[in-house]
Amino acid sequence: MPTSAPEALLKVSGLSAGYGKIGVLNGIDLTIGAGEIVALLGPNGAGKSTLLKAISGLLPRTGTITFGGQDISKTGPREAVNAGLVHVVEGHRVFTQLSVYDNVMLAGYGLKGAVLGERVEEALAFFPEIAAKRNDRAVTLSGGQQQMLAVAQGLVRRPRLLMLDEPSAGLSPVLVDRVLAAAAQLRDAGTAVLLVEQLIEKALKLADRVYALARGSIVLEARTNEDDLPNRLEHAYFGQDASAPLAS
Ligand SMILES: Nc1ncnc2c1ncn2[C@@H]1O[C@H](COP(=O)(O)OP(=O)(O)OP(=O)(O)O)[C@@H](O)[C@H]1O
Ligand SMILES: [Mg+2]
Repeated sequence: MPTSAPEALLKVSGLSAGYGKIGVLNGIDLTIGAGEIVALLGPNGAGKSTLLKAISGLLPRTGTITFGGQDISKTGPREAVNAGLVHVVEGHRVFTQLSVYDNVMLAGYGLKGAVLGERVEEALAFFPEIAAKRNDRAVTLSGGQQQMLAVAQGLVRRPRLLMLDEPSAGLSPVLVDRVLAAAAQLRDAGTAVLLVEQLIEKALKLADRVYALARGSIVLEARTNEDDLPNRLEHAYFGQDASAPLAS
């Protein structure tokens, strides 16, 4: 019988990062359990995208990052992907002149033929509306369908943790729900999701836990079923003198 809680899938300790001499993140601590949806919220410029880039190795950083028990603090983005940590970057663009199928297939570079074919089908199965357009060029997809394609590109690697940076940006409410529903489906299949989202209410409804980031530091960590969370978030975002309402 295990006597302690299972080890976190992702454990980030004392992580700092920035751009050249510009420091952005200051000593971030964050954990994600296997199969958990964690929302990362915070105002514009707080450092949310920077944190995802630092975790996935797209930016140099200091501090410790373990993933699946393996130290990935010093590894680059390719090793992180191979370990099962996949990052769909903010404003991810698909190859508009290639077919839907080829876009997903390209994202599976390095996977061997038969496995690649299976994984492409598996990824497309999450989004029947784009699977039906597999032979069409991506340019013919709506904005929401292109977001689904971007997520499908991440899924082809069968991640243990998928980090989505504002997957709903620019989408209509119906398509937002459709893209976020994929995150719930992933959790049901045992995949953890770290979701950066501006739509706070929707993110809180979906996620198991939430972190709020402000000015490069974690200012709140909570389970999403805790009382008074919207108020606490507002204070975390704007400080004690908060008077501006939260956008949602
Ligand atoms: N390539 C870059 N070079 C220099 N500074 C950058 C760069 N990208 C972001 N920054 C700065 O780092 C800080 C954090 O930016 P980041 O993009 O991580 O914020 P964010 O929380 O993702 O914001 P948003 O909600 O607008 O996406 C900001 O002050 C931003 O100006
Ligand atoms: Mg961002």
